[in-house]
Amino acid sequence: MRISFAAPELPTDGVVAVLVPEDASPTGVLARIDEAMEGAIARLLSESRFKGKKGQVKEFFAPRGLSVDRLVLVGLGKADKAGALEFEAAGGALAAHLNGAGVSEASLLCDPIGTQLDAAKQAAHAAAGARLRCYRFDKYRTKEEEEKKLSLTALRVGTEAHEAAASAYAELEQVVGGVFLTRDLVSEPANVIYPESFVERARALEKLGVKIEVLDEAQMRERGMGALLGVAQGSAREPRLLVMTWNGAGEGDRDYPVAFVGKGVCFDTGGISIKPAANMEDMKWDMGGAGAVVGLMQALAARKAKVNVVGACGLVENMPDGNAQRPGDVVTSMSGQTIEVINTDAEGRLVLADVLTYVQQTYKPSRIVDLATLTGAIMIALGKQTAGLFSNDDELSDALTAAGKAVGEPLWRLPLGEDYDRMIDSDIADMKNVGQRWAGSITAAQFLKRFIEEGVAWAHLDIAGTTWSDKDQPTVPKGATAFGVRLLERYVAEHLEK
Ligand code: BES
Ligand code: MN
Ligand code: ZN
Repeated sequence: MRISFAAPELPTDGVVAVLVPEDASPTGVLARIDEAMEGAIARLLSESRFKGKKGQVKEFFAPRGLSVDRLVLVGLGKADKAGALEFEAAGGALAAHLNGAGVSEASLLCDPIGTQLDAAKQAAHAAAGARLRCYRFDKYRTKEEEEKKLSLTALRVGTEAHEAAASAYAELEQVVGGVFLTRDLVSEPANVIYPESFVERARALEKLGVKIEVLDEAQMRERGMGALLGVAQGSAREPRLLVMTWNGAGEGDRDYPVAFVGKGVCFDTGGISIKPAANMEDMKWDMGGAGAVVGLMQALAARKAKVNVVGACGLVENMPDGNAQRPGDVVTSMSGQTIEVINTDAEGRLVLADVLTYVQQTYKPSRIVDLATLTGAIMIALGKQTAGLFSNDDELSDALTAAGKAVGEPLWRLPLGEDYDRMIDSDIADMKNVGQRWAGSITAAQFLKRFIEEGVAWAHLDIAGTTWSDKDQPTVPKGATAFGVRLLERYVAEHLEK
C-alpha cells in the first residue's frame, strides 16, 4: 500500500476518513463536515452508539451534503489518552474497514487531537497503523475470490504538518518492513523454510550492509556445539548457525553493546518425545524468535541505526528418526557443560545454549536479549498477549518493559532464583533439560542462564504465546505477529544508539 502526506483538504470525491475522539463535539474538519451534513455528525454522536470509542467505525455511504462516495468515521478513544498506540490502532481499524469494503484508495484527514503527540506524529502513527494492518500472507492462494483480497492500495493522509509527518513516517516504515519480513518467515511452512532456506532469505539483508556469517554442521561440530547438534541429528535437514552483524556505529568497531539471539526451530515435532497430532502444524512457527531477529536486523540496517548489533539464530529441525537423540542421552555443549536430555521436546533451550556461548565467545557483547517460543507454560501463565521476561539485570529488564509498553508488545517479568535453578540439576550430568511439572517457563530460563557468562546483562523473552495470533488485532492481522521486532527496535533507538 502506498502512503502519502498532503495538506488537509476535504476531497470532493472518493473515500474520506476522519478520526473522532470519544465524547467530544465535532471540531475542525469534522465540524465542517457536520455543517455540510446539516448536523448529522453531532446527531450521530449524541443519539447513536457511535461515540468515538476505540475500535468503533461508522461509515456513511453517499453522505447527504457531501460529494464524496463514502465518509468513514474512526473512533480514537479519549483525546487526552491518545498516544502513538491509539493512533496506530485507529489507522489499523480504518484499514481493516476499507479492505472489508473493497475500497482501493482513501484520504484520511488528521486534525490534531489531544496533547500527547504533535500533529506530525499523530498522522505518521495513524498511517503506520494502517500499514501494519494491511498484511496478508497469500502467496499460496491460487483461487481467491476478490472479496477476500486486500483492496486498499493507496492512503493519502491529510495534515497541516505533512512534511514532518512524511519524515516521521519514513522511519516507521523501515520498522514495518522488518515486521513484514518476520511475518513472512514465520508464516512460511516448514517444507519451504528450513535452516538452509532461512539463511538464504536472510542473505537479502546483505544489500543493506548487514554482514552475514553462517556455520554449517561440520563447523559447528568443530566448535563442540553438541547441544544444538543433538537436536538437529534426527533431521534430514542440516542445521545452520546464522550470525548477522550491523556495524552502524562505525566500520571496524568491534564493540557490541547488544546481541540478539533467536530460537530457530524450523519445525518442532518434539523428536522422540513426540508431540500429539492436534495442532502440531503450529510448530512451523517455532522459529519465531529467529524470524524476529532477522526482521529486527533489517529494520535497524534499513534506517541506518547508529549502533553495532549482533543477531544470531540457531536453526534446526527437531524430528524423530533412527538417528534422533534419545531421552536420557547426555550431550556436551560448547561451553563444556554437559546436559542430560530427559525430554527431546525441550529442544529450544539446547539450541540456544550453544548459540549463546558462541555469541559471547566471538563478539563479547555487553548485553544479550534472546527471543524464543520456548514453553507452552508461558501461555498458561500470561496468555497470548503478553510475553514472559526473565533477566539478571534490572536496568535491562526495565528498559525492555518500557519499550514493549510503548509499542504495544507487553512484557511481564517472572522470577529467577536458586531454588528454581536446583530443579534442573541432574544425577549424572551438569544439568538436565527439564525440571518437574511446576514453573516450566522459569526452569527453562534457568537453563539458559547457566550459559550466560559473568558480567553479561541478559534478558530472555519467552514469546511462545505472542508469536502467533488466533484473531485479528488492530495493527496485527491474524497469524504471524512479528512480536519483538518493534519492541527491540525501540529499545535500541532509546537506549543504545549514539
Ligand atoms: N516449541 C515448544 C513450545 C511451544 C508450545 C511454543 C506451544 C509455541 C506453542 C517447545 O519446544 C516445547 O516443546 N516445550 C515443551 C517443554 C517441556 C517438554 C518441558 C512444552 O512447553 O511443553
Ligand atoms: Mn519442543
Ligand atoms: Zn520448540
